[in-house]
Amino acid sequence: MANTLKIGSQEHKELLCRMFVDTHDPFKPAEIRWPDLDPESLQRLKAMPIWNEATRTEAATAIRVQSLGDTEKDPFLAEAIRLQGYEEGRHAEVLMLLTRHYGIEVAPFPPERVPKDPTLAFLRTGYGECLDSFFAFGLFRLGEQAEVFPRPFISIFDTIMQEEARHILFIVNWAAYLRAQRPWALRPAFDLWRGWNIVAQAFDRVKGAMKMAGGDRKKGEKKDAEPRRDETQDGFALKAHNVFGDFSLRSFLETCLQENDRRLAPYDPRLLRPMLVPSVVRKVVRVLPNRPPKPRPRDQQAA
Ligand SMILES: [Fe+2]
Ligand SMILES: [Fe+2]
Repeated sequence: MANTLKIGSQEHKELLCRMFVDTHDPFKPAEIRWPDLDPESLQRLKAMPIWNEATRTEAATAIRVQSLGDTEKDPFLAEAIRLQGYEEGRHAEVLMLLTRHYGIEVAPFPPERVPKDPTLAFLRTGYGECLDSFFAFGLFRLGEQAEVFPRPFISIFDTIMQEEARHILFIVNWAAYLRAQRPWALRPAFDLWRGWNIVAQAFDRVKGAMKMAGGDRKKGEKKDAEPRRDETQDGFALKAHNVFGDFSLRSFLETCLQENDRRLAPYDPRLLRPMLVPSVVRKVVRVLPNRPPKPRPRDQQAA
């Protein structure tokens, strides 16, 4: 179907905001019935090295998104962005309730400051989400297949994943709308500004991954010192290898691509889709060897 939607038009903006508001899921975190877990599942849940970072990130994202929702002059955009801020706050609340329910310790963090430039903060956060969500979609699918997460968690977190898909769909269309609102002469500067922020977000992720690979050492700690991990999250990398199995990088990236397409498929095809991360990953996949994954230790035991 030809895309007849003019990017930057009133119709584009209304379609985007309507998509966002109409697909909002009104669930209440307090109504979630957290399942009882057997000791092994509970230990696996506690060992996931995500709770500190995820709780902090969701709470900070909520403040940043809400600050743009509160200052946005356009009523359509303001309604959609405020709703997105509410959803981010709800993600933080779900994590807070989960960690409290299962006795997972979360390190305290200072409250996020309201950004001075809400548009810039929203753009940065949004492109960060485009990167994080793409890989999270694939990881979530692998975790589901490997039954890493307790079964009742799948539907709870599937809802959250789908909300992140709506968020990244919103951000790329919002940014394209913003760009189209600018006079032609100012668009190259906008592209540079946006490009710089995308690179900064990607760099942040690489730094985070390197920090995790190094075991999150304290400043001044020797490079070859024993990695520091807190008690509940001890040795996750080793355990994760056993749990997920030895999937190849190629199959992981292919899963991310498939999941990205699947999660974005339900929405109006006239809206723009995130392009940058999927197109880079598609190029990477083309040059990676096609090796079948080794069997997981569990499968070997069962054989
Ligand atoms: Fe979120
Ligand atoms: Fe989000």
